[in-house]
Amino acid sequence: MFQKIRANFVPMMVVLFLVGGVAAMFSGNSGNNADPRTNSRVDVSVPELTELALEGEALFNENCAACHGKDAGGSDNGPSLIHTTYNPGHHPDEAFYFAAKNGVRAHHWGFGNMPKVEGIKQSEVTKIIRYIRDLQFANGIVTKPHIM
Ligand code: HEC
Repeated sequence: MFQKIRANFVPMMVVLFLVGGVAAMFSGNSGNNADPRTNSRVDVSVPELTELALEGEALFNENCAACHGKDAGGSDNGPSLIHTTYNPGHHPDEAFYFAAKNGVRAHHWGFGNMPKVEGIKQSEVTKIIRYIRDLQFANGIVTKPHIM
């Protein structure tokens, strides 16, 4: 009896291992819902940008891209903003103004704190927001109410 369980144990572990692997493959570690902690670069498709968004892109590249990555796709220093966490329902425009002005204490991921962005004007953040929202929209990130 005991030996029989032992004999079944190894194949059983193999099966569990395979099932776990397949589950992990389907658990959504891809696309824009990927967890920035484990996959810090997200592929962002860039739509045709309006003039305001293009100005926002230049300002973003100057002030934010070092951490939030090219096309806001994330880097080792900060999360992608083209992620459902940053949809307008969870992070409305005020969160962007606030982040730029005051910095952000790390609370979503493990990248550390975001320092305040010295010298940036509110009107410049407005353009950056236009750029980010256009990218979000083009990448299927839609407003979801924040339930917490
Ligand atoms: C030195 C790196 C760095 C720079 C530069 C930076 N950020 Fe961040 N930012 C971060 C990190 C890291 C977080 C995530 C903090 C956390 O764990 O929630 C973050 C979070 C945010 C958030 C989410 C705020 C919240 O309420 O959770 C917004 C919005 C944001 N950044 C916008 C910007 C904008 C816009 C710029 C440029 C004007 C910028 N960041 C520049 C590192 C940076």
